[in-house]
Amino acid sequence: MIVVSTRQRLFGSQTRRAFFVPAARLDSQTIASSLRLKSSIEATKCPHHAGQNNDPVKIADSVKLVNVPKLPFVGSIISQHSGMSKWDFTTSYDNWYENHKNFGHFYSTGLPGIGKGLYHEVYVLTDPNEMMKVLRKEGPLPFGPLELQWPITEYYKDRKEAGAPGGSAGSGLFSTGIEWQKYRRFIQSDLLHPAAAKGYLSGIIKASEIASAGAPKHAKNIAEYMAHSSFDMFASVAFGQFPGIATGESDQEEYNIFCKSGLRGLGLLLPLITDPMEMVQRKIGIKSKLWSEFEENFSTAREIAHEKVKLFRTRKANDQIKDEFEEMSYANLSIDRQISSVGQEDALTEDEAAEMIVIGLVASVDTTSSLLNWTLTHLVLNPDVQEELHKEISKNVANSGVGALTGDCFGKSNTVYLDAVLRENHRMTSVFSFNVNKQNIMDDVEIHGQTIPKGSVFVLDSRSIGMDPSVVKDPDVFDPTRWFKDEVEARRGTPAEVLDHPLYREPFSAGARKCPGSRVASYEAKVMLSQLVLDWKISIADNNKDPKPKSWRDIKYFQGLTIQPEVPELSFERRR
Ligand code: HEM
Repeated sequence: MIVVSTRQRLFGSQTRRAFFVPAARLDSQTIASSLRLKSSIEATKCPHHAGQNNDPVKIADSVKLVNVPKLPFVGSIISQHSGMSKWDFTTSYDNWYENHKNFGHFYSTGLPGIGKGLYHEVYVLTDPNEMMKVLRKEGPLPFGPLELQWPITEYYKDRKEAGAPGGSAGSGLFSTGIEWQKYRRFIQSDLLHPAAAKGYLSGIIKASEIASAGAPKHAKNIAEYMAHSSFDMFASVAFGQFPGIATGESDQEEYNIFCKSGLRGLGLLLPLITDPMEMVQRKIGIKSKLWSEFEENFSTAREIAHEKVKLFRTRKANDQIKDEFEEMSYANLSIDRQISSVGQEDALTEDEAAEMIVIGLVASVDTTSSLLNWTLTHLVLNPDVQEELHKEISKNVANSGVGALTGDCFGKSNTVYLDAVLRENHRMTSVFSFNVNKQNIMDDVEIHGQTIPKGSVFVLDSRSIGMDPSVVKDPDVFDPTRWFKDEVEARRGTPAEVLDHPLYREPFSAGARKCPGSRVASYEAKVMLSQLVLDWKISIADNNKDPKPKSWRDIKYFQGLTIQPEVPELSFERRR
């Protein structure tokens, strides 16, 4: 069914014509039923975007739903049948872009592990304003994509049934329902509010100072280094402690194991959920090799983190909280909350509260390290950008009066370039291949003029337009100036302003389930990058082994849960 929308909107105008040449891979019926829009203004005058002539946004014509062929159980993953790009964890970014090229701005496809029903149906769209309609219908008990990670939900289900510590809490947080609300309220308190996140900033700065000193030692294994740095920073938030595992000199070996097993466990999620046979085996009680490996690694990470929380709690009970960092830590505040709520409806048990801290620790390593690994990769591939960033940070440090990073260095007006660097990283190499995955739980929703039934699954493809050469000039060039105020102003009123929509801006999703660690994670990324660039001139090592990568396109990557690049061996030259 095709419904033509005549409302004025960002996408589409009367004059727009087919933007993408219909792919040979599509069957003729699909092509006939697909009405492409030209996704952008032409790149003419402006170096970074098209539409510099400030033409008013044209009256919208239609974006039409394209039905990608689907089969029961496997959805659209058989590319010879569906025309979808082959599901490949080493080319995820390009796969989504290819699908966008082939199917346009609004298509219904079948993605096992993400979609719903026999065909795993998912609606993919690029227009954030349309996605906002879905968000408005998410209701008070919204869906969250982590629920789809069946290895996690099944893992917690087993623990809940066995009465194991934290089983019910994990199960509740990764569900949709009143239980979710209870655990979500607990986990986000003392974390998500801007003031709460800011309260952890001095600890994050201290952790990053310690971590930065260890950078050269890990020049050959930056992925591990960034995982350890991410752990160190979140340990400062969670416990107000500074294990310094990124220095390579910490004697707390269990944290290395925590990071390794946490990363390995989470890295198996996508391979597990996208293989329909894995779910079938789980349902009939067969433990596949992959599932067993996931379970083992996830358990190891959780057990180490639980021990850590237990130790903290014991020290707290014995009045051994030693300084202001520990006093103001997330663990201390949340244990106080748990104790003072005993006897109230919705109170969490000791184990449940501990599980919330454990989940935070597990969630903080893979995600933050992906963001750091990619951004650092862009900084070494683009020395001019690194220099510009160094200038901004040095100025802030000079103004701080103490010759070091302070909380004031991260006020919005002081981080214009740093923010632009992170925004540019998000445009090109986001932590996830898509960031907003929602359901219209409350009601049917009209998307691009088409009524989509209540309870459908939607994915916002927030990357493809930003990589489209007709919207963004030289999309493979890392250019933070695209996000400067005057550029944003110049885009206003043109179809390219879609790039500045809040749903396109960062990798933390939106709505009531938006990442509860988002503000802390943002600070962590800003602080760690600042500290590294302040301390070191960082470049790609001359190891004479491999040809030096010249562009992000030369960097291999793999998608597990997040997308992690293979950062090349680096060289660190001390700046101060
Ligand atoms: C760069 C770092 C991070 C990124 C990109 C990221 C991204 C995300 C995204 C996209 C979601 C799904 C939101 C939704 O359901 O719509 C999410 C959920 C979540 N994140 Fe993060 N995250 C990061 C760091 C953290 C940290 C540091 C924590 C520590 C507390 C954390 C804890 C969680 C939890 C517990 C959820 C599930 C929330 C729920 O279902 O209600 N994340 N994150």
